[in-house]
Amino acid sequence: MTKRDFLSLEEWTADEIEVVLALAARVKRGGVTGGLERKVLAMVFMDPSLRTRTSFETAMFLHGGHAVVLEPGRGSWALEAEPGAVMDGETVEHIVDAARVLGRYADALGVRAFPRGREWAVARQDAILRSFAQHCEKPVINLESARRHPCQALADAMTLREKLGETSGKRFVLTWAWHPKALPTAVPASAALAAARLGMEIVIARPPGYELDPEDTALIRRIAQQSGGEFVHIIDDPDEATVGADAVYVKSWGSVKLYGNPEEEAAQRAALRDWRLTPDRVKSTRGGRGIVMHCLPVRRNVEIDDAVLDGPNSVVVDQAENRLHAQRALLLELLGSGGMGQ
Ligand code: CP
Repeated sequence: MTKRDFLSLEEWTADEIEVVLALAARVKRGGVTGGLERKVLAMVFMDPSLRTRTSFETAMFLHGGHAVVLEPGRGSWALEAEPGAVMDGETVEHIVDAARVLGRYADALGVRAFPRGREWAVARQDAILRSFAQHCEKPVINLESARRHPCQALADAMTLREKLGETSGKRFVLTWAWHPKALPTAVPASAALAAARLGMEIVIARPPGYELDPEDTALIRRIAQQSGGEFVHIIDDPDEATVGADAVYVKSWGSVKLYGNPEEEAAQRAALRDWRLTPDRVKSTRGGRGIVMHCLPVRRNVEIDDAVLDGPNSVVVDQAENRLHAQRALLLELLGSGGMGQ
C-alpha cells in the first residue's frame, strides 16, 4: 500500500480535509483520547519554530506517542540536499540516507525547510521536502516549506469555521504587511487556499511587486470557484483592503519577482511601511467586527498594532491553539488505527 504524505492542502481531497477538520473539532471538545500509543514522530527542523515544534510534540504526548526533534547542523549532522553531490564540503549526511533511516525508526516524519538558494524557479520546487518524501518509507508531513504550510492552513480553516460559522460567501482578505525581512510565501498562499476551500470570497491586498507566485494565484482562484466561492479582486491600497472583510489575514511576504535580489527587494519594500493593520483599518471591516488573523510570530507595531492584537477582533492566539487540535487530528488520521495512513 502506498503511504500518505501531507505536503500541501491541495494534494488531499476536499472530503479528506473535511474528515480531519471534523476530527479536530471533536479532539478540541475533549472527545478523543489515546490512539498514538507506541507511535513515533520524527521532526527535522532546518529552520526555527515555536508553535509547530511545540504543538506537534504536545500532540504526540497527549495521544500516547513520542516525538523526536532533529536540528541538522545543531546536534544532528548537517544535511546535503543536492542530488549526486560530491560530499567533500561541510555537509556530512545526504537527505536520501537520513530519510531512509528515519523512516525505519519513526512512524511519520515532519520536515521544515524554508526557501533556499538565489533562484525562485529552483526554490519553488521544494526539493528538500520532496526529497524527504521520496526517500522516507513513512508518511511525511510538511512543517513549512518554500511553497506551503498546510498544518497552518488546517488550523486557519478550523479557526475561520469556529469564528464565522458558515463561511460560504464571507469575505476573506489576505493583506500584505511590511516587515524588515523578505519572508516566504508559504503561509499566505496556504491561508488563501484554505479560505478558498471553505467557499469564501477571496480578496488579496498587496502593493505592486508583491504578487504571489502566479501558479498559486491561479490555484486559489480555481479552488475558490470549485468550492462555490470566488476570487474577487486584488487591491493595492491598504485602506481599501479591509473594507467589508469578515476575516483579515495579515501576513508579510517577500517579492517573488525579486527573490534572490535582496538589495533591490529591500529598497522596494522600504517605501511600504504604511502596510500595517491599524485600529482604523479594523473599523472598516464588516460591522467593525471582522476577525484578525496572523500565523505568528508577529512583529508588533510593524505588521499589526498592539491595540489590534490585544483587542476584541484578534483571534491569533485561538488560531495558534488550533494548530494543536488540527495536528492531533492529522496525526490520528495518518498514524492511528484505521486512519488514512494505514
Ligand atoms: N506559525 C508557525 O508556523 O509558527 P512557528 O514558526 O513558530 O512554528
